[in-house]
Amino acid sequence: MTETATEGRKIDHVNIVINEDVNAKGITTGFGSYHFEHDALPELDMHSIDLSTTFLGKQLKAPFLISSMTGGAAPTEEINLQLAEAAQALGVAMGVGSQRAAIFDPSLASSYQVRRVAPDIALFANLGAVQLNYGYGIEQCQRAVDMIEADALILHFNALQEAVQPEGDTNFAGLLTKIEALCRALPVPVIAKEVGNGIGGKAAKRLVEAGVQAIDVAGAGGTSWSEVERFRQHTQAGQGIAATFAGWGIPTTEAIKQVRAALPTIGIIGSGGVRSGLDIAKAIALGADLGASAAPNLLAQNKGGSDAVHAAIAAIIAQLRISMFCTGAADLAALRQTPLYRVS
Ligand SMILES: Cc1cc2nc3c(=O)[nH]c(=O)nc-3n(C[C@H](O)[C@H](O)[C@H](O)COP(=O)(O)O)c2cc1C
Repeated sequence: MTETATEGRKIDHVNIVINEDVNAKGITTGFGSYHFEHDALPELDMHSIDLSTTFLGKQLKAPFLISSMTGGAAPTEEINLQLAEAAQALGVAMGVGSQRAAIFDPSLASSYQVRRVAPDIALFANLGAVQLNYGYGIEQCQRAVDMIEADALILHFNALQEAVQPEGDTNFAGLLTKIEALCRALPVPVIAKEVGNGIGGKAAKRLVEAGVQAIDVAGAGGTSWSEVERFRQHTQAGQGIAATFAGWGIPTTEAIKQVRAALPTIGIIGSGGVRSGLDIAKAIALGADLGASAAPNLLAQNKGGSDAVHAAIAAIIAQLRISMFCTGAADLAALRQTPLYRVS
């Protein structure tokens, strides 16, 4: 596909996520199946609970990441700036969307550049891993990192999304060797991330053996990218093919558990359908280091700009704090040790 088409597609994606029901169907994240044991005697002052953490060497005030979404078309600049303003004010991390459009056309770089409003946040660059089979190498990855002064590069893995796109890049053969070379050469850490179908234990292990330093599971149960692509299909046949996969993937809770079991010390981002601070508390108790969400932040930005994003994330942080208070967890290390009960 052409790079101009990439730019149009980015705007399509934002509009579809805002206007259509693109949630996964027939599958859930699994968060609803887990419960904490309430502690009637927490012996804690709720306001002294410590939510701070470090991730890949960067300090965060709370264990939250605004997942990679957009950039690459003029109207997306405001979205990224407003997301970044909220991230800076709250001391949480942020990823930008795939930077492929601006690698091709550097005049689009400013739509990803948020350091002027967010000088201190942990900021993650983003490219599709499959692009390593379509002419991209270390040079393009370094340019993506330099373009936004990123602290790490997210490589996203979106096999299902590419497969249901008429113009999709579906040659995923031999990527691991290229990822290994990239991880060796790039001066910043590489994070491997799905887009809503989940990275399981086996894939995570192979990626970490290749040099990847953290896994964003981006599991199933939240935004479904086969559903997003269904709305871009012009034929009934194409829509039917995409619709088949609305329930596809590894549920987010299962992906977190698998990756933590396979890799006891690797950094894990729990994402995919994370919709509250209680979900984040559960993600951390299951083995994640951070929680993250994408679509809810875009919806908030669309409604009320940076103030609305700030309010949405502040609510998530408040819910996380209350979850920790009512389980007697004074900090994230204690939350990690807090048992969860599976109820269904
Ligand atoms: C509008 C939009 C654009 C996205 N673009 C990207 C992208 O360029 N790169 C990427 O890694 N993920 C992208 N994603 C996927 C999200 O980062 C996330 O993994 C997925 O939406 C699941 O999270 P959610 O259920 O909280 O939305 C995008 C998501 C949205 C909503």
